[in-house]
Amino acid sequence: MSTILVTGGAGFIGANFLRLLVPRHPEHRFVNVDKLTYAANLASLAPIAERDNYALARVDIADEAAVAKLFADTDPDVVIHFAAESHVDRSILGPGEFVRTNVHGTFVLLEACRKHWAGRLDGKLFHHVSTDEVYGSLGPEGLFTEETRYDPSSPYSASKAASDHLVRAWGRTFGLPFKLTNCSNNYGPLQFPEKLIPVMILNTLERKPLPIYGKGENVRDWLYVEDHCEAIWRVVNEGALGETYNVGGNNEMKNIDVVDRIVELVAEATGADLEELRALKVFVTDRPGHDLRYAIDSSKLQRELGWTPRETFESGLAKTVRWYLENDAWIDAVRTGAYRDWIAANYGDR
Ligand code: NAD
Ligand code: DAU
Repeated sequence: MSTILVTGGAGFIGANFLRLLVPRHPEHRFVNVDKLTYAANLASLAPIAERDNYALARVDIADEAAVAKLFADTDPDVVIHFAAESHVDRSILGPGEFVRTNVHGTFVLLEACRKHWAGRLDGKLFHHVSTDEVYGSLGPEGLFTEETRYDPSSPYSASKAASDHLVRAWGRTFGLPFKLTNCSNNYGPLQFPEKLIPVMILNTLERKPLPIYGKGENVRDWLYVEDHCEAIWRVVNEGALGETYNVGGNNEMKNIDVVDRIVELVAEATGADLEELRALKVFVTDRPGHDLRYAIDSSKLQRELGWTPRETFESGLAKTVRWYLENDAWIDAVRTGAYRDWIAANYGDR
């Protein structure tokens, strides 16, 4: 039995990860380490909240004393580090929290691992969940490989790049056992409605404008969230120590094409008039420093560990639209702030 700390387990990818892995692995104890920021939602964890091998620790990873106590209390074998400020637009409006959580928070966790595991590193692992945005922007050709030079554009991607460098430095200098994954854009159930796909689904349903940055020609490589979670678990269990694996969907799309497909799927699912929905599209001021194109070469992960994505973009997007149509309570809580009131009432003084 291992104790696995999953930081950021109440966010989009972390919650999907826990929902997949906790029921499948009763032999492991999963501790969700989350500060419960605006991006967290405990309703996402309802299906596993009562399981014997799951626990929640409300901890800020940038709080050294709280993290030291957490390590002493739980004695983890593995840390899977999802926790981060994750939204590029927010990082442009307020970069400070990104440096605090993504850079300082990662440093605090690495130091906690180094101290807590001193002299007994066998079987221990720090797995860092990172992004393809550390590589900057591609032109019309080429793919990001694990050897691509770092060239981050936004405060978010710069903070993630810094955290990747810290992880590798703790490996080289202090011998900390680590692995890294850098993944492309995720989509799927439980994603906070600030990212492209949930914004477009919910705005279409509510007949609100669909704000497309610039000309909608930026390209992202979309991966269904569960495929990302399976890739992380594969790397945690079978990947080589000290290695980096790129994870991607091999599914490049222009933003405008993603929006068009969402509009069609919502029209099909609800019987709404397609032309009325299409008319909601508006082209708005571009994001400063907007990376033109991301595309991932995940052949190392496929070749060495046999991972392939299960979901196509078509099947994954259809599932995602259905999920947002069927989960009003989750959406209302996120939108109205009822969830944040609940956190304040139940966790306010902890
Ligand atoms: P998210 O914003 O949905 O969730 C982040 C979670 O981290 C939240 O539950 C939040 O409460 C928690 N958190 C934030 N600050 C914290 C702190 N100081 N202490 C403890 N917990 C804190 O993010 P996500 O989209 O689920 O992304 C998870 C990870 O995956 C991030 O590291 C992100 O960089 C990486 N990633 C995301 C994508 C994507 O497309 N979303 C792609 C590649 C990599
Ligand atoms: O590539 C991985 C990254 O993908 C992750 O590391 C980040 O955490 C995640 O947020 C995501 O970053 P992006 O900036 O690519 O995702 P976002 O959903 O914010 O935007 C996707 C594209 O859509 C991008 O080109 C900007 C554009 N966009 C976004 C929003 C929210 C719009 O045109 N309109 C919008 O309203």
